[in-house]
Formats: sequence, structure tokens, C-alpha cells
Amino acid sequence: MSEKKRVFSGVQPSGRLHIGNYAGAIFNWVPLQDEYLCIFGIVDYHAMTVRFKPEEMERNIINAAIDYMAAGIDPEKSILMVQSTVPEHTELAWILNTVTPVGWLSRVPTFKEKKRDNPDYVHMGLFDYPVLMAADIILYKAAVVPVGDDQVPHLELTREIVRRFNGYFGETFPEPKAKLGVVKRILGLDGTNKMSKSLDNCIYLDETKDEIWKKLSTAVTDTNRKRRTDPGNPDICNIFTMHKAFSTKEDIDRCARECRSAGIGCIDCKKTLLGHMVAALEPLQQRQRKLRAKEDYVYQVLSDGKKRAQEIAQQTMAEVYERIGIKRFHN
Ligand code: TRP
Repeated sequence: MSEKKRVFSGVQPSGRLHIGNYAGAIFNWVPLQDEYLCIFGIVDYHAMTVRFKPEEMERNIINAAIDYMAAGIDPEKSILMVQSTVPEHTELAWILNTVTPVGWLSRVPTFKEKKRDNPDYVHMGLFDYPVLMAADIILYKAAVVPVGDDQVPHLELTREIVRRFNGYFGETFPEPKAKLGVVKRILGLDGTNKMSKSLDNCIYLDETKDEIWKKLSTAVTDTNRKRRTDPGNPDICNIFTMHKAFSTKEDIDRCARECRSAGIGCIDCKKTLLGHMVAALEPLQQRQRKLRAKEDYVYQVLSDGKKRAQEIAQQTMAEVYERIGIKRFHN
């Protein structure tokens, strides 16, 4: 077994990936693959905490796997797996449930938001979401968890659960650290909300140049800049955030400078961005097409991923059984 430190991160299989997912997550994962043993989970049980269509689940999982690999997750280096195929995730989540006070979970911001937005659909799974996430991470004793800033409270909770478990049963799990990406979160085309499929404000990874331009050309920029001759402020412009994810340093600096001096208008700035975005997405789309043509291979990758992940998971669970006093029954 590899002696490298481990990374775990997860994404929900909820349809097509957009550039927000790419810049906020996958893009930051790719460079970690040499230094760490990375386990990337397609977290289907988390996706089931909202209303979902069973007949779409398999397709969504396969598409997610294809998109990750197309974006640079290398199954020779990393483990790409489907959460539910390693039942130790839910098994450990149960044990963690017994050390997690209800009060901790009711204070989680994502829970409060979901409860507010959907008062008729508040169930145990939604409440328990962060405990399953903690189990995902510590099952592999991950040292580092690359996530977007919206996930930081979940990571804090994971660390508290770890301290509690270790305190009750003896030092077992390391406290994982969140690793935020270099790019601030890309907002939706409206420039206000987070990029999200349900808000219809996304640019998807598989869109063509024309489709992307249609969306970019009307995307909201710095709203204080009313006229072409007004100077703009890149720091509050979502288009500039996109530049930071896709453009060269030279063009990032130039666009910021010439925006501030009103040397360029928003359309010029967006055209420069379009070029870089298309250049970044084209090779990715080519790999997407290749992988779509050989889905058997994708199923095989996930099946290997399950085996490799489970090997680590079982080692951790053996330790857990010992800690909680049920070891002999698991031999
Ligand atoms: N909650 C994460 C999200 O919505 C997904 C996730 C599940 C995750 N388990 C995880 C992320 C473990 C990091 C580590 O984006």
C-alpha cells in the first residue's frame, strides 16, 4: 500500500458539470495526484438527500466519472469510486452518529438553508449529511480535503467529530484539513448567485464556442460600471474571476489594468476570456468524446476504484471495531 498521504474529495452526481465545478473543485484536484494518494468519490448517497430520479442515477454517475477523467483525474494514479459501492462509508457514518451531538448538526449552515428553502422536505438524511461526509473523509484517514469555501463548515464539523471519537475511544483518526482552491468561487452568469443547474446560470463543460459566447456576452460584470468610459473594478467582477481560472497571467494582469483605466470595455474583456476558456475546454471535450465512446472502460475504472478503496476502508474499519470493542466478531 502506498505510503503517500491521502486526499479525499467528493462530488455529487447531479448531471452535467459546469465551469464552477471545474474551477472550484476538479481543477484543484489534478495537481494533487502526484504528491498524494487521492480518492475521489462520486457521492451518490449524498445526491439522494434531495428528490431524485432513480432512472437517471446511473447515467449521472457515469457522466460524472467521464467528466472527472476528461478534466485530468488519472485512474492510474488516483482512485475514482462510487460512494455506495464501499458500504464502509455508511457503516462508519452510523458509528460517528453515536458521537455527534444533535446540536452540532442543527447549526450547520447548509442544513439551515435547505430547511428554509424546502420546509416540506426535511428528513434525517439531510440532517445527517455532514456525518456521512465526515465518514467519507476519515474512512481513508485523509490528511487533506480540497473543497470550495461553502464546504468549510462541514470540514470543521468533521474535525470536531474526530476529536470526539479520539477522545472517547483513543487516538484513531487524524484531523483533516480543508484545502481551498486558488480561484475564488465562480458565480453564475447573473453575477450574484452561485453557479447552479437549478438556477439556469451555468456554462457547461461540454458547450461549444458559440453557446459559450451567447452566455458570456450577456453575463453580468461590475454593475457599477454603467458606460464603456467608466473605469471598472475587476475585484468585484465575476468575469474577472473566470479569467483567473482560465486565462494566462499576462492577460489576467492586462485585463485588470485596462478595466481599471477604462482602456477596454466589458465586451473586449469577455472576448479575451472566451479565447482562453475555449482553449482550455477543447482538449477536455475531446477526451469527453473519447470516453463516451468507451463506457465499458469507465465502468471498469469504477469497479477497480471500488476494490482499491475498499482495501483501505477495511483496514480502517478493523481498527474501529477494535476501538469500540467488537473486533472478535469481525474476524
Ligand atoms: N458535500 C460536498 C459538496 O456538496 C460533497 C462531498 C461529499 C464531499 N462527501 C465529501 C466533499 C467528502 C469533500 C469530502 O460539494
